[in-house]
Amino acid sequence: MIPLAKPVIGPREEELVLEVLRSGQLSLGPRVPAFEEAFAARIGAPLASAVSSGTTGLHLALRAVGVGEGDEVVTSPFSFVASANAVLYERARPVFADIDPVTLNLDPEAARAAVTDRTTALLPVHIFGFPADLESFESFGLPIVEDACEALGAVHRDGVAVGGRGHPAVFGFYANKQLTTGEGGMVTLADAAMKERIDSERNQGRAPDMGWLDHDRLGFNYRLSDIACALGIAQLEHMDELLAARARVAGWYAEALADIEGLGIPLAEHGGDRRGWFVYVVQVPRGGPARDDVVVALRERGVQSKPYLPAIHLMSFYRERFGHREGEFPVCEDVAARSLALPFFPEMTQSQVEQVAEGLKAVLAGP
Ligand SMILES: Cc1ncc(COP(=O)(O)O)c(C=O)c1O
Repeated sequence: MIPLAKPVIGPREEELVLEVLRSGQLSLGPRVPAFEEAFAARIGAPLASAVSSGTTGLHLALRAVGVGEGDEVVTSPFSFVASANAVLYERARPVFADIDPVTLNLDPEAARAAVTDRTTALLPVHIFGFPADLESFESFGLPIVEDACEALGAVHRDGVAVGGRGHPAVFGFYANKQLTTGEGGMVTLADAAMKERIDSERNQGRAPDMGWLDHDRLGFNYRLSDIACALGIAQLEHMDELLAARARVAGWYAEALADIEGLGIPLAEHGGDRRGWFVYVVQVPRGGPARDDVVVALRERGVQSKPYLPAIHLMSFYRERFGHREGEFPVCEDVAARSLALPFFPEMTQSQVEQVAEGLKAVLAGP
């Protein structure tokens, strides 16, 4: 079976993690600032705060820009559910707007139409590692939190790396990501006071100069361990090769799938924006076999695939809580119903890509 994803863990990862294990300092140690500094340097961001996941990073970043109870945050319905959930943690409301059919990111015009006098922030998602149109969102004059969980390696048209524009931008390090620490996340940002707040709130509200028992604000345990940070430092050391390997696999896919009529394939670049390759998601042709049947038929051919991503507003929790219905965001719903993630990882071979492509062609051609 060709798996969907597979992390690359080498001898350097083992060496740095072992060093931490032998040091005896497994958490709140020197690897945390070391990883933060290395990550910020990679993105070209002034600062970074390591956190326990992309989700917890989103939560703290939303709090840091001032999102609170009763506020509205305009965001994309075509995302992993965590981006909208993080808004709910603060008793604010995620307000969805439709997506652009080419980039699959939040459409700035639709987002503008969704802004009300209760909107306190925008939460664009760089979906599948493709840069969201930050220039347009910046023109709204509202605070922005970027969900960059899938977007390490992505670059905006002006040459700035995703995460390097100064807004808090949140990366995720789950095992299928470009960089993994098993579980983990990072918030890149430019504002030192915001970093201080995030660093305090990830650590139970403790200020840097406080004793253990005196905490002056509400906090959480959203820390990332030194073990995880050591893994992240090692991954960063070979990030160029890891990203290049993903881009190479994507190139093989583009070639192998080019002649399937009606198949939506992901763009490496559009209008100067460059994708940081995370997943390889296609949209099955309209009028052909249903996407879920394609998943089953591919499995029978030894290929793992998955429906990815479902529209958030149509998930049962969001339907029940907010009364969302089909037809609200037609572009998102059409794309979500046809989206299929194919196996994609740095060590994937060209012959595996061809096997997947042949399987997909045969399945789409029908019985
Ligand atoms: C777009 C997006 N947002 C948020 C998250 C949440 O990150 P984590 O799983 O690290 O909490 C993910 C991770 O899968 C994601 O893909």
